[in-house]
Amino acid sequence: MSVTVEGDFCSLVNKLMVEPRVFFLISSGIYLISSKKDDKFNSLIACSLTQVSANPPRLVVSINKESLTHEYITYSKIFSVSVLSIDTPKKFIMMYGFRSGRTFDKFKEINYKIGKSGAPIIIDNSIAYLDCEVDGTFDCGTHTTFYGKVIDAELLKVDKPMTYSHYIEVLRGKTPTSAPIFIGSC
Ligand SMILES: Cc1cc2nc3c(=O)[nH]c(=O)nc-3n(C[C@H](O)[C@H](O)[C@H](O)COP(=O)(O)O)c2cc1C
Repeated sequence: MSVTVEGDFCSLVNKLMVEPRVFFLISSGIYLISSKKDDKFNSLIACSLTQVSANPPRLVVSINKESLTHEYITYSKIFSVSVLSIDTPKKFIMMYGFRSGRTFDKFKEINYKIGKSGAPIIIDNSIAYLDCEVDGTFDCGTHTTFYGKVIDAELLKVDKPMTYSHYIEVLRGKTPTSAPIFIGSC
């Protein structure tokens, strides 16, 4: 049986009587997801990326429907993932994670290359990248999950990846309401 409840995250978990702090225990990394629409490029910060199959290698990422990146991935059916280094400045994460490409060109002063899929791949602050073709989607309400078959991957630098817990606990970073894991205080 499924239960449908309306409202923000805190009232939802209260109605369902589940412990909100448990959601903070789900580990994740911090990545740049980039895509294109014709000759325009865009990118956002996502912490919802994970690998879901090995053969073929496939990733899934949850993207907010209001973001420009959602529009670009839906249109081109391609995206790249830049794995950010643990040393990535907080300012860089905030720039890609709090500002929209609708008001600011996120590719203006950045080093990037074009992947095999045709998607742009941001190189700055990245230790590796994966290049994906979308081969499935799922409607999650506020977000769409895009499944991406990995068609290319490269290691750029030997270093540790940025984690969500490092961003929150060490860099004292914040997460916008547009992220799927936004909790606020319940
Ligand atoms: C730490 C962090 C994690 C985030 N995770 C996601 C995510 O998984 N999915 C998502 O759609 N947005 C996520 N966001 C929010 C987007 O990066 C943000 O809404 C961005 O400004 C959208 O840009 P765009 O309109 O140029 O695509 C996250 C932001 C931060 C700072």
